[in-house]
Amino acid sequence: MEKKCVMANDHGAVELAGKLRKHLEDLGYSVTYLGTDNPDVSVDYPRQAEKAVEEYRRGGYDFGVLLCGTGIGISIAANKFHGIRCALCQDTYTATMTKKHNNANFIAFGGRVEYKEDPLKILDAYLSSEFEGGRHQRRINEITEIERHC
Ligand code: RB5
Repeated sequence: MEKKCVMANDHGAVELAGKLRKHLEDLGYSVTYLGTDNPDVSVDYPRQAEKAVEEYRRGGYDFGVLLCGTGIGISIAANKFHGIRCALCQDTYTATMTKKHNNANFIAFGGRVEYKEDPLKILDAYLSSEFEGGRHQRRINEITEIERHC
């Protein structure tokens, strides 16, 4: 079955968002792209995170990709939504481990960040890894419990 993802970014990551989007489409993913594709007009990253999460919650999505200048603001915003585990990964190691251990359902990148590894490879590492379950599921359940009371 076709894998689906939702993607959104602010003005600080238009170029990298375009590269990641093309890469995903080349790999056969269906990408619902929510913009922005204009680097010259400011858009607020919390709004972009909210749009992407709302779309993701409609269902049928495997994961989401979010970008802003650093990746920090948009991942903070996404992680405010219950059930969203958005990982800001700096390399292939963290991208692999966040799927294996955190079962991250969103991955974030910074369009103004100089990555030591190609961001396409970082995304590939996330895509090709599997959640390990077991004690890691218990820890995710603990996060869900925190969401219930705060
Ligand atoms: C926008 O200038 C910038 O603050 C934003 O893209 C992001 O880096 C915030 O975390």
